[in-house]
Amino acid sequence: MKSPLHHSAQPARVGTALVTGASAGIGLEFCHALARRHYDLVLVARNTQRLETVAAMLQERYGVTCHVVTADLANRQAAADIDAFIEQRGLHIDFLVNNAALLYNGYFHELDRQAQEDLLAVNIVALTALTHRFLPGMIARRHGHILHVASTAAWVAIPQQNVYAASKAYVLSFSIALADEQRAWGSGVHISALCPSYTDTRMLDNPGQGRRLNIPRRLRLSAASVAEAGISACLAGAVVTIPGRVHQVSMALLQATPRVLAARLIGTCYRRLQGPTQPA
Ligand SMILES: NC(=O)c1ccc[n+]([C@@H]2O[C@H](COP(=O)([O-])OP(=O)(O)OC[C@H]3O[C@@H](n4cnc5c(N)ncnc54)[C@H](OP(=O)(O)O)[C@@H]3O)[C@@H](O)[C@H]2O)c1
Repeated sequence: MKSPLHHSAQPARVGTALVTGASAGIGLEFCHALARRHYDLVLVARNTQRLETVAAMLQERYGVTCHVVTADLANRQAAADIDAFIEQRGLHIDFLVNNAALLYNGYFHELDRQAQEDLLAVNIVALTALTHRFLPGMIARRHGHILHVASTAAWVAIPQQNVYAASKAYVLSFSIALADEQRAWGSGVHISALCPSYTDTRMLDNPGQGRRLNIPRRLRLSAASVAEAGISACLAGAVVTIPGRVHQVSMALLQATPRVLAARLIGTCYRRLQGPTQPA
């Protein structure tokens, strides 16, 4: 855990947002989108130096206050540590963005077991734990927003990314059901799921994540457009958001396709993109 970095020139603040995976990719763009709307920020990721650079940049550019929390969300203790940090600083979270996630490409039986368990811990367990920790405070204050980053992968079974896609299906299902619960409870808390398709971040090209997927650049969304779509849709009360008309239509078509057939089509396509993968 690191000390908060304070900034003197404060705009009219609207609350405090916590973003996991804030140091890069879509998470970094969520921070821009929230800071532009005058949210103070709690930035969570593993790399302290990157987080502090991002915090200094956001404070300088938007005049918001940023707090840096170094945490590995694969660790079961992480959500409790983040909660303790928030309490020690006397903060409360008005907007929670559960964004951090891991992805591994490749045949399940070839991928590292611990890596797949870490994926489940980050994508499912930490997301659920953080929501469970910060939701009661929002309900008590009768106001709050929680944005869960799922994926278009949530809608289909994806060979070579089977654990990732299954984890995102959990995120989507959990979010839709929780949104309805909160609506029925009249809590004033809004839950939203964002389902981006391929987005131009390190996640698509990270050599530490198994086989390269090789998605052509022209098919990738920009991280800034995805983050802006997610924040504005969440604030507007959308329960599920798929950025981009093409992707909305593709998902509708996939929903009308039998699941086993859809998986076969996607698997064939991914195996082509990834090159020869079959054992001799
Ligand atoms: N990129 C895509 O094509 C795409 C498509 C659909 C959905 N999504 C979803 O969008 C979200 C963001 O993805 P992205 O593409 O922006 O990913 P990214 O570029 O890989 O960035 C991931 C962020 O999460 C942090 N992080 C990773 N593992 C962590 C851990 N164990 N504990 C704490 N922080 C961790 C990373 O920082 P550190 O390494 O410093 O921890 C980084 O800030 C994810 O939920 C992803 O599933 C992405």
